[in-house]
Amino acid sequence: MIPHNTPGNVLEVRDLTKLFSRPRTSLFRPPEAVTAVHRVSFSLPRGSVVGLVGETGSGKTTLGRLIMRLIEPTSGSILFNGTDLAKIRGKALRSLRKHFQMVFQDPYSSLNPRMTVREMVEEPFLVHGIHPRPDAREKTLGELMLRVGLDPGDLDRLPKEFSGGGRQRIGIARAIALNPDFLVADEPISSLDVSIQAQIVNLFARLNQEDGMTMLFISHDLSVVSYLSDFVLILYRGMNVESGPTQEVFRNPQHPYTRLLIASVPGWEEGIQNAHGTKRVLGTAAETGPSPPLCPFSHRCPERMEICLKEPPPVRVERVPPVPTMAGMPAWPRETACHLTFPDMQTSGDPTSNSPKGSFE
Ligand SMILES: Nc1ncnc2c1ncn2[C@@H]1O[C@H](COP(=O)(O)OP(=O)(O)O)[C@@H](O)[C@H]1O
Ligand code: SF4
Ligand SMILES: [Mg+2]
Repeated sequence: MIPHNTPGNVLEVRDLTKLFSRPRTSLFRPPEAVTAVHRVSFSLPRGSVVGLVGETGSGKTTLGRLIMRLIEPTSGSILFNGTDLAKIRGKALRSLRKHFQMVFQDPYSSLNPRMTVREMVEEPFLVHGIHPRPDAREKTLGELMLRVGLDPGDLDRLPKEFSGGGRQRIGIARAIALNPDFLVADEPISSLDVSIQAQIVNLFARLNQEDGMTMLFISHDLSVVSYLSDFVLILYRGMNVESGPTQEVFRNPQHPYTRLLIASVPGWEEGIQNAHGTKRVLGTAAETGPSPPLCPFSHRCPERMEICLKEPPPVRVERVPPVPTMAGMPAWPRETACHLTFPDMQTSGDPTSNSPKGSFE
């Protein structure tokens, strides 16, 4: 496997796992565990955008929250400049926090309705004792407002005076105030009006291309991920089913789930390898069927074989040629977790399958 610790990575996530327990349904039975994230590894090259894609319930938010250290991992490590974030706590964690920030899905609930824009955007400076002189702070706040497309004259307004897009811009200003090393954006456009989504996507593109901001961009919108991200990681019920350079993965998807996702995007049918031509919009990753380490997609997979229900999918790792537009960025391996990618190990036909080959339930 190509190591994920190449110099130039802002963050390296290794074997990250998070189990949640469901509420007990009986006094006599132990609480059931839900695998929200299963042994996920990837790196975040400096200056890149990594897109994290998957249906609702696939573990995207959990992975983002683990990286932000808002929740504790069950196992695995998150290396930030050589420090394992999964192990640090208290003061050490608070002082590292300024280096990574999050933009939340819902700009309505993530902003304090009683605080002015000024109070919200200057809070990170005050917490970390940066720009203590009021005149210097005022200049920085004005520049920040312009950077996210807001008018510095709006600093003394309340969030309720802004549209959804305006509120998300405030959330972004707050997140980038201290020039963090990376940003986790968790579905930052999904609660916005379609008419303003493109403006916010373009703001993220500008922050990356002009300011070199590194991002983990979480979305279930493949078109946006294709536009914004250099690398993509596709999650299904907590498992990294396929990952690699975005255009490579979208042009030539290997995993049946990736093919399903791509087939669900209107206008993407042409020019991609779509064995089944099945259309389906992104829905919810149902919690039925096997859990990782077995293939969690097996109950929906039209390619399922006998081995798929018995053995965890092997991970095929390919080294792909560097993309010219990503000169200077560490290589990202192309990975696929599926028995199909190892034809020698397969046995044909699943006698328990009741879904005809070539269709989805
Ligand atoms: N605090 C929690 N307690 C129990 N289960 C949780 C908790 N948070 C998330 N989950 C479960 O983990 C899985 C992944 O959830 P989530 O990360 O929110 O997915 P996504 O963001 O892709 O929609 C789901 O099955 C969800 O029900
Ligand atoms: S491992 Fe088997 S069931 Fe899972 S996606 Fe691949 S072929 Fe389908
Ligand atoms: Mg989510």
